[in-house]
Amino acid sequence: MKRLDAARSPEMSKDEAAEGDVNLTPRRKRWEAENLGSRTRSLLAEDAKHFLHQSLSTPCFNALKSASGIWLEDLEGRRIMDFHGNSVHQVGHGHPHVVEAVKRALDKLPFSPRRYTNEYAVSLAAKLAALAPGDLGKALFAPGGTEAIGMALKLARVATGRHKTVSMWDAFHGASLDAISVGGEAIFRRALGPLLSGTEHVQPCAPRSCHFGCGGECNARCADYVEYVLAKEDDVAAVVVETVRSTDVQVPPRAYYERLRAACDRHGALLVLDEIPICLGRTGAMFAFERYGIVPDMVVLGKGLGGGVFPMGALLAREGLDVAADRALGHYTHEKSPLGCAAALATLEVIESERLLERANRLGAHALAWLRQMRQRRPAVVDVRGVGLLLGIELAHPALAEDVMYRCLARGLSFKVGQGNVIVLAPPLVIEESDLDQALTILDQAIGEAAA
Ligand SMILES: Cc1ncc(COP(=O)(O)O)c(C=O)c1O
Repeated sequence: MKRLDAARSPEMSKDEAAEGDVNLTPRRKRWEAENLGSRTRSLLAEDAKHFLHQSLSTPCFNALKSASGIWLEDLEGRRIMDFHGNSVHQVGHGHPHVVEAVKRALDKLPFSPRRYTNEYAVSLAAKLAALAPGDLGKALFAPGGTEAIGMALKLARVATGRHKTVSMWDAFHGASLDAISVGGEAIFRRALGPLLSGTEHVQPCAPRSCHFGCGGECNARCADYVEYVLAKEDDVAAVVVETVRSTDVQVPPRAYYERLRAACDRHGALLVLDEIPICLGRTGAMFAFERYGIVPDMVVLGKGLGGGVFPMGALLAREGLDVAADRALGHYTHEKSPLGCAAALATLEVIESERLLERANRLGAHALAWLRQMRQRRPAVVDVRGVGLLLGIELAHPALAEDVMYRCLARGLSFKVGQGNVIVLAPPLVIEESDLDQALTILDQAIGEAAA
């Protein structure tokens, strides 16, 4: 009973707010009272009655009627620009090309039972291999990112004969027990009993909270420490890292990944990059690691891979890691889903035909310059950073970030708040510049009002 009460505390700590907005705060209750009509309230009440309650999820705070492009529409008819989208919406919601491809697959081959392959799955595996740099030529699909992380962990064990991992505090790799064992966010690990053994955690490259004295400009000593741990442990199977941590937009410098790659090679550990929320163009590159001039041993994709319409995860591994023919790495029911693969293929076609990488770089640079100017005018903003169309605005404290978020939600702009005090803007890459500017203006005004 005591534990239940603690879980329901309305206080929002930085730990609790690490991966999103907390759904039990008084500020949320106030927003609901001021902004929701009776129809929405009754649906929310039904939702809260039927679903198990959990942190960051149920109870929900609003209900949706439709989604299209960059827009969500709630039951009240309020239109909301979706700069959150759970990171599935690189091509926007319901892109016609993706929807059409899924409809065609639905009519032709709605499911592919194990034992059979299909043209959608083979085409997607070949396409991803052709796009990926280096020899990341082998794929395994799964019904989600978390499952694909689990497959990477298993393959690392089989390939190295070792079981330990080194991963980062404050990282998120999914919500299953194996994923939270390598993940490092308190809210997902706390009070859940024993996790996987052999999961070492180190400080991530996060310059503004660095304990290695970099003073805001990464000196890559955090990467040297990873090497120190690899040398001491001597039997680490894999170093698992989010190439760019999306919860608060941590963008390490090139030297960090050069050192990490070299350290893994020296100590026989595999480098596994988690690009689930940032794959396929979010950072202005198809794969975020391309920005660093290194190639990992494995990369894990998800979220936007399914075009925002289908759950899809993928593990891409070096050809030489095809060493587990007698083990079950994934074995998921929807492994070679024709619908998921059709959605992914269509998504890749949209990214290429609409030149979304170029667009992410151009609009991202425009937004970052705008935010840097805003920072000069708004003392509440302590840092702005970004890569492609993934932008982080660090505010002085979590209560301010929460207030800004609810003000923006009332005005039709939704985004994620990460690590408690970082506003994360992740608009669809198809966004028009005028809509982006409108969103930045809403944010600016909300910060001004919240800080006043
Ligand atoms: C970096 C990272 N890894 C893994 C996951 C898990 O992906 P999924 O929830 O689709 O299984 C997420 C989801 O937010 C993520 O952001």
